Amino acid sequence: MVDSAQPKTVLITGASAGIGKAFAQIFARNGFDVVLVARRRDKLEEVAADIKKTHGQLAYVLPADLGDTAAPQMIFDWCEQQGLQIDALVNNAGYALHTDFLDTPWEEHRAFLQVLNTGVVHLTWLFAHGMKARGYGRIINLASVAAFAPQLRGNLYGAAKSFVLDFSQALDLELKPHGVHCTAICPGFTFSEFHDVMGTRKAVSRLPRFLWMTAEEVTEQGYDAVMEGKAVLVNGLVNQGVSQVMAMLPPGIKQYLAKQQKLM
Ligand SMILES: NC(=O)c1ccc[n+]([C@@H]2O[C@H](COP(=O)([O-])OP(=O)(O)OC[C@H]3O[C@@H](n4cnc5c(N)ncnc54)[C@H](OP(=O)(O)O)[C@@H]3O)[C@@H](O)[C@H]2O)c1
Repeated sequence: MVDSAQPKTVLITGASAGIGKAFAQIFARNGFDVVLVARRRDKLEEVAADIKKTHGQLAYVLPADLGDTAAPQMIFDWCEQQGLQIDALVNNAGYALHTDFLDTPWEEHRAFLQVLNTGVVHLTWLFAHGMKARGYGRIINLASVAAFAPQLRGNLYGAAKSFVLDFSQALDLELKPHGVHCTAICPGFTFSEFHDVMGTRKAVSRLPRFLWMTAEEVTEQGYDAVMEGKAVLVNGLVNQGVSQVMAMLPPGIKQYLAKQQKLM
């Protein structure tokens, strides 16, 4: 449960599907009102209606394209206008491109980095001032085991998630003394729309079941981790083992392993 009698509010990006949608359920179950952000209004409204019905919490829908550089300020201003105090922030929206670096138009790279990195930092900067001033805040940033793994040829995804991992740890060091916890969540293969959007569903469906987790498992663990003040959570024993081995590999061996991979 929320650790005060005061009602609390969480803002979740990418709440229309997958891990973000599951985070909305977990926070609502624990007494938070929710602000749901993504592009698809109809999906957000379904999630909001379910939360109101199942948990009796307030659920606000705010459609936004986080690839737009103006989106973080627009989201912050909207919350201010509504009189909403944001006590928890889940920077979850994300996707992966499935093309080589030079074959991808610059606008696609720009929007990708805006959604996965710049927007995450901007939203955090906007909302963390209030959290620090009030002495309470919970920030979850979605990284990935890809932050530890050998990189896919020419792909920005692993680099973007490494940035999220490092940024979250640095932020946790700065804000923890002020009652604001920041946790980087590192899931591995998780059932969601992610691989449909990336176009790798057919290839990954051949992977064994033990490599996969549900969005509910990932988010239950993520919620507990941020409340307990863990700076980093790697979800599940398989992912923990893989990440630890990868983190210890010399760069040359990691690059050799990277060469063996190909875009699925
Ligand atoms: N699934 C995995 O295997 C896995 C593993 C490790 C890490 N992750 C990370 O977990 C996070 C959630 O992914 P997921 O698996 O839940 O994928 P998902 O089911 O495809 O959900 C992605 C969410 O991000 C939103 N989104 C994408 N682009 C957006 C944009 N430009 N503006 C606003 N919202 C946008 C989507 O909403 P709209 O389309 O409605 O905008 C959707 O709500 C991502 O950061 C991903 O990198 C996933």
